[in-house]
Amino acid sequence: MEDTAEAIANLTRERWEANAEYWVRVIREGRDRYRTDLTDAAVLDAVGACAGLRVLDAGCGEGYLARRLAAMGADVTGVDAAQGLIDAASSHPAAGATFIRASVDDLPMEDDRFDLVLCNHLFSHLQDPAPAIGEFGRVLKSGGRLILLTLHPCFYVVNSEQGAMNSVPAAQYFASRGIDQRFLVDGLESPSMITSWLRPLEYYAGTLRDAGFVIADLREPHPTEEQLRDDPWWRKGFPTAMFMLLIAERR
Ligand SMILES: C[S@@+](CC[C@H](N)C(=O)[O-])C[C@H]1O[C@@H](n2cnc3c(N)ncnc32)[C@H](O)[C@@H]1O
Repeated sequence: MEDTAEAIANLTRERWEANAEYWVRVIREGRDRYRTDLTDAAVLDAVGACAGLRVLDAGCGEGYLARRLAAMGADVTGVDAAQGLIDAASSHPAAGATFIRASVDDLPMEDDRFDLVLCNHLFSHLQDPAPAIGEFGRVLKSGGRLILLTLHPCFYVVNSEQGAMNSVPAAQYFASRGIDQRFLVDGLESPSMITSWLRPLEYYAGTLRDAGFVIADLREPHPTEEQLRDDPWWRKGFPTAMFMLLIAERR
């Protein structure tokens, strides 16, 4: 019988298979302004120059960041649990990267292979990220970087995108909490529900430390004062800090 963690991982994969076509549309039509106007630039700034680096795009989805880094000269491998997304990534005319269906909990790669592991919006889809963090530590070279962008563990709540600004009670904050909702991006609702998992900041610090990482930087991508002043979309859609970007180095 499946244990609970395996059952949740399987459910997550099934939901992403069901959402694959939807997700390809959202990304390729540039419908997610959080990405196009904010977090993509923050992630690329954290990555910096990457020509010649071996990069793992973990939870790559339909592969747009892998393609972007490949176009900058990196040698990129994308992995994702959902076959529908791997098929979409592999068949893109500008692929430029290698795409493999695999779980980040069990990577089919040798030790010390990569200079950089990038996780763009992966961690909120992992109920227990510890095995994945262990795998990232294994496949990264000493001195290699793990860059992860995820929902802000302290402030993100259900319907933040619609302006909700509730605080998170301590009893929920210090336990791993799951938020069940459909994506609603630019008026398009996802066919399948997803669960976004959040856990306290000290979870990240402790789990990364135990896997041999040192946190080098913590950033909170947010709109500029001008964006908040001039654009009602940002005023409503960014009621509180919504994203956390962590950069950790493998010792
Ligand atoms: C919000 S999407 C982000 C995709 C891509 N990084 C992007 O920014 O468009 C989360 C992705 O994580 C993948 N995923 C969830 N659990 C996974 C696992 N255990 N191993 C690999 N990929 C996983 C999903 O299939 C999905 O493509």
